[in-house]
Amino acid sequence: MAKRKQVTVGDLRSDPVLFAEHVLGITLHEGQKRILRSQARFIAVRAARRFGKSYVFSAYAAWAICTQENYRVIVISRIMRQSLEMFKTIKAIIMNSPMAESVVRCTMTEIVLSNGSQVQSLPGSSPNTLRGITANLVMVDEAAYVDEEIFIEIYPTILSTKGRMILISTPAFEVGEFYRACMLAKEYTSFHFTHADAVWDDGTPFVDPDELEREIDRCGGRESPEYRREYLAEFGNADGVFFDVQALRDAMRADDGSEAIYFAEEGHKYVTGVDIGQINDYTVIATMDITDPNAYWVREIQRFKGESVDAIIIKINDAAARFNSQKVLIDEGNIGRSIIEHLKIRFPHRPFVGFNFNVSTKPRVMMNLNILLNRRQLFLPDDIELQKEMMSFKYSTNARTKSISMGGANGVHDDIPIALALCVEAAEVFVPRGTLGLGLSGGRMLFPGAPARVSQNEKQMRKRRNVLI
Ligand SMILES: Nc1ncnc2c1ncn2[C@@H]1O[C@H](COP(=O)(O)OP(=O)(O)OP(=O)(O)O)[C@@H](O)[C@H]1O
Ligand SMILES: [Mg+2]
Repeated sequence: MAKRKQVTVGDLRSDPVLFAEHVLGITLHEGQKRILRSQARFIAVRAARRFGKSYVFSAYAAWAICTQENYRVIVISRIMRQSLEMFKTIKAIIMNSPMAESVVRCTMTEIVLSNGSQVQSLPGSSPNTLRGITANLVMVDEAAYVDEEIFIEIYPTILSTKGRMILISTPAFEVGEFYRACMLAKEYTSFHFTHADAVWDDGTPFVDPDELEREIDRCGGRESPEYRREYLAEFGNADGVFFDVQALRDAMRADDGSEAIYFAEEGHKYVTGVDIGQINDYTVIATMDITDPNAYWVREIQRFKGESVDAIIIKINDAAARFNSQKVLIDEGNIGRSIIEHLKIRFPHRPFVGFNFNVSTKPRVMMNLNILLNRRQLFLPDDIELQKEMMSFKYSTNARTKSISMGGANGVHDDIPIALALCVEAAEVFVPRGTLGLGLSGGRMLFPGAPARVSQNEKQMRKRRNVLI
C-alpha cells in the first residue's frame, strides 16, 4: 500500500483541495476540485444544475480567509434570500471545523477571523452596496442571472488589490457579462462542466441517476434546450428570444425580498390570469395589483401540476377570493372551457372570463406584456425559475405565411408568460389599435437590447392618442 504523504502547512496554504479535506473535513468531487485548483486571476465556470456550485464557493471562501491575513472575500448571490442561504453554508463549513476557534465576529452575512480576514455575503440585487468596497476576491454565484449592473460595480472593488474574481453559473443565453467571460474575454480562464463531470473519486455520480432522469423529463427530454442549458451547461441561442433580458431583470429588481402578499391590501385592485395545464403541463395562476397604472405588481404566481380538475377549480377561486380580483381571465383552450363553466356555476358572483388563444390573439397579448416590461411598468417577483421561463420564451416568423408562432423554447414551459399576459389583458392596459400597432410595426421591442424606458414625452403623446381613440 502506498504510504500517505504528510501534509504540511505549506501544502494547505497552496492547495485549497487539501485544505478542504484536512481542515474543513469535507470531500469534494472531481469537478469541484478542478475549480479550486485553478490559480487564474479571472475564472468563469459554467456548470450544470446541482453540480455543487454554491458549495464549492463556500469551501473556497473558507480556504482564502484562513490562509491569508487581512484578506477580504465577497460572495455575491442573486438576491438577499440566496445570499443568506449561501452564508449559512459558509458558516456551517467554517463553524464545523477547527477554524471556528479563530472566529472573532459572526453575523448573518459576515465572518471575521483573528487574522483580520473576512468573508461577506451580499445580494447582487442592489449593486450600489458594493460601491466603495475593496476586496481581494469576489465570487459571483448564478452569474448568468444577476443584474448586469453588478459587474460595473465589481471590477473597481478588486482594482487596487489586484484581486481575483470567480464567476459561476448555469448558463443562460448568448448575451451578457457571464457569456462574455466564458466565451469571449481573453482575461478569463473558463471551465465547462456538465452533470457528468460531477463524479466522486471512485467514479460514482454526484447526482443520483434516478433523480437526474426525472430532471431530464421535467426539462422535456435530452434534446430540449432546457436540458442542454441546465445539465449540459450550454448557452442558449438568443435568436428569437422574445423578452428583453435586461427589462426582465429590471422588473425583478424591485423585489426586495420582503414578505409575500397573500391577501388584497386595502384600497388596492387586482386581476388574475390563469393558464390551465393538461395532465403533464403546469397550471399557473398569477395575480397582479393594478392600482397604479404606471406600476403593475405581480403579487402571486402559483405553479403546479398533477392536480385534479376539482383542485384546480378550488385554487383558482381561492386566489380570486383572497385578492378579490376584478377579473379572472382564463385560457379557455382544452379543459379550460369546462373549468370556466364549473367556476361560474359554483361561484356565480365572481368575474370568471374565458380567453381564446389563437394565431392573432396570442401575439397580441404577448406583445402587450412585452411592451409593459420594456416600459418598466411591470414588476415581478425575483424568482430564478420565473426568469428562466420568461427568457426561454421565443418567437419565430414563418417566411411564407408571415404568421408568428411563439412559445416556450421546448414547446412545453410557457405557462408563466401566458398567465402574466392574461393578467395584462385582464387589466385592460392597452386600448385596442394604437399601442399594438406601435409594438408590432416597429418590431424592435422583440429583440434584446431594445430601447428601454419610454420618455416622458412619449407618455404624454400616448395619452393624447388614447383620448383620440
Ligand atoms: N462536495 C460535497 N459534499 C457534500 N455535499 C455537497 C457537496 N457539494 C454539494 N453538496 C450539497 O449538494 C447540494 C447541492 O449543492 P449546491 O447547492 O452547491 O449546488 P448548485 O450547483 O449550486 O445547485 P443549483 O444549480 O440548484 O444552484 C447542497 O445540499 C450541498 O450542500
Ligand atoms: Mg446554487
